[in-house]
Amino acid sequence: LPAPMTQTDRAARATWAAHYATPRGFRYHPAEELVRFCGRLRRPLGRVLEVGCGSGANLWFLAEHSELAVGVDFCGTALRVAQQVCTDRGCGQETRDSRPGHRCWTAPAVLAAADAFRLPFAAATFDLVADLMVSQHVNWEAHTALYGEYQRVLRPGGGIFLYHLVRGTTGSLEGETDHPAGIGMFPEAGRVCLPDARQLADRLRGLGFVGVEERGMTRTYPDGTRACYAVLEGTAHE
Ligand SMILES: C[S@@+](CC[C@H](N)C(=O)[O-])C[C@H]1O[C@@H](n2cnc3c(N)ncnc32)[C@H](O)[C@@H]1O
Repeated sequence: LPAPMTQTDRAARATWAAHYATPRGFRYHPAEELVRFCGRLRRPLGRVLEVGCGSGANLWFLAEHSELAVGVDFCGTALRVAQQVCTDRGCGQETRDSRPGHRCWTAPAVLAAADAFRLPFAAATFDLVADLMVSQHVNWEAHTALYGEYQRVLRPGGGIFLYHLVRGTTGSLEGETDHPAGIGMFPEAGRVCLPDARQLADRLRGLGFVGVEERGMTRTYPDGTRACYAVLEGTAHE
């Protein structure tokens, strides 16, 4: 059984629950970098785990490109929103198949409550682990344990997709800092860790991930604030 949650975990869950209880928490659109990633694929993703799936905005889209998409989050309110979003987007439902006599279903999206540090899955279960804006809310020291857990549940040769706020984001140029509310994204989430993209890539390489590639992505908002993201893709060692 997972260890009891710490006070910090409880506080974090409460702030996320407040976010997902508002209309703003009902986000349906997937991250554009994930859309590009799926667009480059030449075959279905297989079994996918999205850690910290939040409202399910990425999960329903991942389900369309995989055989099975599993979303976990430690916030029950988020999971209820994700259930609604995935249902609205037709996950696991019969879809059109123009071939006579054929029936066709979209991949299901399965949701579960879990802490990203203690994933309730056997080793080597997934072909891809996706983390979009989740590890950015974890202390830098804890990133190694978190990515090690992702590696455990990935099959050898499985892929990792990370989307992480990084240095250069307005309001902070170094280390772990308070989230600048001016970014207007998830100010209620509190502290955000802003490493360099290179530091993130090195963390993955240090754990044995291979073929790690990093890209930058910046969004500039009308008030001049900038959100800088790293997009990382890599492969769990064979
Ligand atoms: C910024 S939101 C991102 C949600 C989603 N990935 C997206 O891109 O829309 C971060 C999410 O991570 C979840 N989360 C944070 N820490 C977690 C942990 N230790 N275990 C599971 N979920 C966590 C939060 O509840 C929240 O839903």
